[in-house]
Amino acid sequence: MENLVTAIGTPNIALVKYWGKRDVGLNLPYNSSLSMTLDESLNTKTSVLVSDRLQSDTIYIDGAQQKFDDAKEEKFALLAEVLNYMREAASSSSKVMIVSRNSFPSSAGLASSASGAATLVFALNEAFGLGLGQRELVIIARRISGSSCRGLMGGFVRWERGELPDGTDSYATQVADNAHWPEVVDLIALVSAEKKRISSSEGHRRTPSTSELFKVRPEIAERFAGMASRAIGQRDFQTLGEIIIKDSNNMHATMLDSYPPIMYLNDASRRIIYAIHDLNASEGRIVGAYTFDAGPNAHIITLKNDIPKIKAALQGIASEEKIIVAGQGSGPRVLDESESLIGKDPFGQIKM
Ligand code: PMV
Repeated sequence: MENLVTAIGTPNIALVKYWGKRDVGLNLPYNSSLSMTLDESLNTKTSVLVSDRLQSDTIYIDGAQQKFDDAKEEKFALLAEVLNYMREAASSSSKVMIVSRNSFPSSAGLASSASGAATLVFALNEAFGLGLGQRELVIIARRISGSSCRGLMGGFVRWERGELPDGTDSYATQVADNAHWPEVVDLIALVSAEKKRISSSEGHRRTPSTSELFKVRPEIAERFAGMASRAIGQRDFQTLGEIIIKDSNNMHATMLDSYPPIMYLNDASRRIIYAIHDLNASEGRIVGAYTFDAGPNAHIITLKNDIPKIKAALQGIASEEKIIVAGQGSGPRVLDESESLIGKDPFGQIKM
């Protein structure tokens, strides 16, 4: 067997967050979450070569070879499990070479692992010719990185908490595609490219087991997820914006309440929070709604017409070249062979 596939995928930004796993092995969340899949302004490209001529499985991310059995990086061990599962499903014994590249810094709260995992699962399905449906791919991606399961489809996506212990009812579905409300965009203000001190895997464990505030978080987030879905259906930015802001602050409060505390926001993040509230107060409406993942970089959800107002409000905090505006995307897709990150001649050569 020999097949070379290249795919492109994108991060998704949670508008109502997932934080805390009720089952660590299966990546099952305590609450449903809701996200927006971004367009290709930020992207992951992944080439997968499946070939009997390869001696072993290898994986390169952003130019560096990674070890599948690296104990410090649980995600790679999970990735190996997923790879073996898909290989078996294809009744194949071929080894694979995976080359993946992010167009943005990884481990800085820009959802690089979510983008990477969604793109990889999508690419493996194509490379092994498995023809798995979206629901199966969602459940496979969820195993590597919970939030990645929302990135297999475009527009607004809800990841269902589910009830079953085996996780078969914890999957993602599209709330609305990217044509429903295309005016909604994510203005990302990069305030740091530093790798986070506490991995999200560690945070997902620490917060539920140590935070008193977390006792009420799942119920609040579940309610927010329902309200946000309805606001999206009605294209009601005022309601959606308020939920986005409150949910981000609620999640970060439980992080700070963890023991030892987890703090992903920095001074620049806090200045952005104040600047956005000042702007919203002076306009008498929600112009921008900020949300932060496990990092200090701000995602400001806004409507296209208001981008200049947000940029003006951020002056002196994030310069123009540190701002990326991403619209909504439609999920991963296969790229042309000419875009491959793996050269064919000589065999297996990586284009760096
Ligand atoms: O899927 P993980 O383990 O990378 O966790 C992501 C958690 C947040 O980004 C903070 C929130 C979310 O729902 O994406």
